[in-house]
Amino acid sequence: MIRLLSTGLLGLFALLAQVASATTLDPAQDYHSLSNPHQVLTTHLNLDLAVDFKKRELAGHVIFDITRKDSEAKELVLDTRDLTIIAASARIDGKWQKTGFKLGKVDPAMGQALRIALPKSADQIKVQYRTSPQASGLQWLTPAQTAGKQHPFLFTQAQAIHARSFIPLQDTPQVRTTYVATLRTPKALRAVMSAENTPNAPKTGVYTFKMPQAIPSYLIALAVGDLDFKAMGERTGIYAEPSMVDSAVAEFEDTEAMLEATEKAYGPYSWGRYDLLILPPSFPFGGMENPRLSFITPTVIAGDKSLVSLIAHELAHSWSGNTVTNATWRDLWLNEGHTTYLTYRIMEIIYGTDRFNMESVLGYQDLQSDLADLPLPYQQLAIDLRGKDPDDAFSDVPYEKGALLLKELEARVGRPAFDAYLKQYIADFAFQSLTSEEWLAYVQKHLVDKYPEQVSMARLKQWIYQPGIPEGAPKPESDAFTKVDQDRAAWLAGERRASQIDVAQWTVHQWLYFLNNMPSALKAAQLAELDKQFKLTASRNNEIAHSWLLIAIRNQYQPAYERLEDYLVHIGRRKLITPLYKALMDSPTGAKFAKRVYAKARPGYHPLAQGTMDAIVNP
Ligand code: BES
Ligand code: ZN
Repeated sequence: MIRLLSTGLLGLFALLAQVASATTLDPAQDYHSLSNPHQVLTTHLNLDLAVDFKKRELAGHVIFDITRKDSEAKELVLDTRDLTIIAASARIDGKWQKTGFKLGKVDPAMGQALRIALPKSADQIKVQYRTSPQASGLQWLTPAQTAGKQHPFLFTQAQAIHARSFIPLQDTPQVRTTYVATLRTPKALRAVMSAENTPNAPKTGVYTFKMPQAIPSYLIALAVGDLDFKAMGERTGIYAEPSMVDSAVAEFEDTEAMLEATEKAYGPYSWGRYDLLILPPSFPFGGMENPRLSFITPTVIAGDKSLVSLIAHELAHSWSGNTVTNATWRDLWLNEGHTTYLTYRIMEIIYGTDRFNMESVLGYQDLQSDLADLPLPYQQLAIDLRGKDPDDAFSDVPYEKGALLLKELEARVGRPAFDAYLKQYIADFAFQSLTSEEWLAYVQKHLVDKYPEQVSMARLKQWIYQPGIPEGAPKPESDAFTKVDQDRAAWLAGERRASQIDVAQWTVHQWLYFLNNMPSALKAAQLAELDKQFKLTASRNNEIAHSWLLIAIRNQYQPAYERLEDYLVHIGRRKLITPLYKALMDSPTGAKFAKRVYAKARPGYHPLAQGTMDAIVNP
């Protein structure tokens, strides 16, 4: 009876939970902002901040131009996280007067709403505030964490919802604002922003910026450090610490060609200059497409341009993402899927079809391995993120599955037609945000109706709303990998020694394919043979090192552990360290090593990377 009752209750709870999760999702609603742009819209912001490295604090004010969407609106609601609000004022007939404000209760994923009383005829609102040393969107680096070791460094990372931790604002990709900014820094340092920068501005400690195109909040970015600038081409250049500038210029010298090729294929570049900012190795991402100034990890400076698809990717976002933007974080795949597709195409134009094929296969394999352990709801392109932190849904799905869908469309309608379609899509939605459903409606009109034999709505919906890769999807292949498969198989079967494999012409991609497709268990003697022959533990290519270290961990290959420790302590890029910590945690001795090394590495990691690794190493 008790059992019956409890199963009955459980059943009821399960039913209630189902009903709750089935509550209709409104695709147009951004569930990750507490702000009220539908009543009062901010259209321009004027930022004035002092950068205090001792206190690890930004302090100053932001002034908003506002447009009333609802003439009865009585308040402006902004997103904040961990901000101290000092005062709010409203400008009425050209005069500032104090106005009331209130911070709402803390939501762990979203932060706190800041409700500011809006007097009837106010046309601007000003907020004085300061950030917290723990701000999720800021990383404050000590001199020891930089290349030059002399000066501190600060950078922001706003995507997805961290802009609110350094500016109180309407933190949703549905709102676009232009901005101007003044940053006040120590005199020895240079400040840069995702805006018009003056490449060789004198180091006065006061820097001003202007972003004339309206951008979503997640693209507002700043960095402060000992930065030099060097031009690469007419519109492209590098900002980096002095000791890094030349190697970065050499590595990324094809950026100008990439920019021209992308313009030719997909329409004019709308942003003036395209520069790269090289960050210290604790930058938690590979790159971030901050407009006019992509932020780039130094871990891709390999000396041979083998990892520059990252630059093609961040550049491509200037079209897909920065020009045409996802409406909510559920639609992230519109940004990343289109960008990943464009990346492959740019790489093909600049480096040829062999490289295109190899990178396509590696991307496809990354997707397969992500899908192997992702819960089904996270395998959809449009992921229901209500009540979740958008950072937690990060995987290869929006990137590689999104790109695969576009490759399928390309294969079905033919490359010329698909290129024309994509160019038109970018032009039609320029400087707008769109939902997955708006995308579907657009594709229906421009592809499904025109090519009813080739493309169907049912198929598109399967891609977007169902988990996994649809049956019959394109499967990338590379001839350059066939030989690698044969070599690996012969070596594993004991028919060929490592010294007998002809690796002289192998590219980094072939190395990655060779290593990534090893069986998970290898014998100690096999590992020693590979390492002796190919010097893998000593590899200075961070991707090859990553693939090799993963093999070393799975097989507890001790000679690589010193390198592993050094790698984990010096690199903070999430994509490179997360799989290593995860693999370490699979064995008791590995877990012990992980905990010891993480204790040492953690203070140098970005808050986002700390959050991810905390959950893995100290769950
Ligand atoms: N915009 C992303 C980074 C991002 C996505 C930050 C979502 C926060 C939330 C950036 O363009 C990106 O995709 N970076 C990749 C590199 C790329 C080559 C796949 C990365 O950092 O690994
Ligand atoms: Zn991206």
